[in-house]
Amino acid sequence: MPQTLTLAVSPTGEPESAIARAAALLREGKLVAFPTETVYGLGADATDPDAVAAIFAAKERPASDPLIVHIADLEQLASVVAQTPPLALKLAERFWPGPLTLVLPRAASIPLNVTAGGPTVGVRMPSSVVAQKLLRAAGVPVAAPSANRFMRTSPTTAAHVMADLDGRIDCVLDGGPCAVGVESTVLDLTTTPPRILRPGAVTLEALREIAPGIEGPMTADIGSVARAPGQMERHYAPRTPLIVFAGQGERALAAIRTEAETALAQGKRVGALLPDNEISALDGLDARIEPLGADLAAVSRNLYAALRALDSAGPDLLLTHSYDDEGLGLALNDRLRRAAGGSLHPVE
Ligand code: TXA
Ligand code: MG
Repeated sequence: MPQTLTLAVSPTGEPESAIARAAALLREGKLVAFPTETVYGLGADATDPDAVAAIFAAKERPASDPLIVHIADLEQLASVVAQTPPLALKLAERFWPGPLTLVLPRAASIPLNVTAGGPTVGVRMPSSVVAQKLLRAAGVPVAAPSANRFMRTSPTTAAHVMADLDGRIDCVLDGGPCAVGVESTVLDLTTTPPRILRPGAVTLEALREIAPGIEGPMTADIGSVARAPGQMERHYAPRTPLIVFAGQGERALAAIRTEAETALAQGKRVGALLPDNEISALDGLDARIEPLGADLAAVSRNLYAALRALDSAGPDLLLTHSYDDEGLGLALNDRLRRAAGGSLHPVE
């Protein structure tokens, strides 16, 4: 693999020459990481099975985990899926371009390694201007998982991509930090009722405004194994052990403080991830704190970068808490639970 080429673009996709160069690489079967509104994706021509195979090799991702196909416009949808049920069109009209992935029957032109051998394909139309310009210039549907090594935290900057994949991919299009910061919602439309396989930036409440019957995700807590093989428990994980206390408010903060005091007394180095207005809960303690911002949207935008920053600072223990299971909180809790190895820590 040659050196990884970094091409800088503005959030509005200038200069066009950088987009054109990245698009040409995609058409040649090369691997190009690019920003979307959620996280950076590792893209390849979705109609080229060799290019798709190279994604799995670069990430060291098991072949059993299917990829999302990214499209520029609705015309391209017909080349990716075998059928478009009326509900898919309704959801596309409301949420595309945007962070919603629809699982639909696979079209024959999509190679089987994209779908992990399965009869369905996940497809989404990203809203990031850079992603849209790249997809339009490439002229092919682009298969792209998050541009991290398998089992690592998703990247929300080009520097995160390089930390995991420098020298393993051909190019990264650096369009700055991602606006949303957590991955798309994956909604399976091939089952009745439709079910969320992965909660994400489009909330369950918003989806139910269009289709009230949509089922929420099966959570790890009720012991189910979701259909998507990517939904394994240890995912989105930092290297450092992470404790996520269940719930918000005074009791969760008191539990974090007690845990931090105990660990510090044992000579451990402690990192914590807290919303801005909660940082004072650790006043007087020698812990490294990553502020997550003022509201849930900010927490989503900042979470992965904060996890990576703390992880590379080398502490022995990371501490945080979960959120109410509504709106973006559902996606955040899902990622936090997985990052913690599968479960939230109860608060007495
Ligand atoms: O926001 C996102 O979705 C980002 C950006 C780059 O678009 N992509 C992303 O891809 O998060 P990845 O591969 O890291 O996660 C995709 C998830 C996996 O859990 C995978 O198992 C699931 O979507 N998935 C993909 N195709 C599927 C299918 N046909 N059936 C069920 N699950 C599928
Ligand atoms: Mg991923």
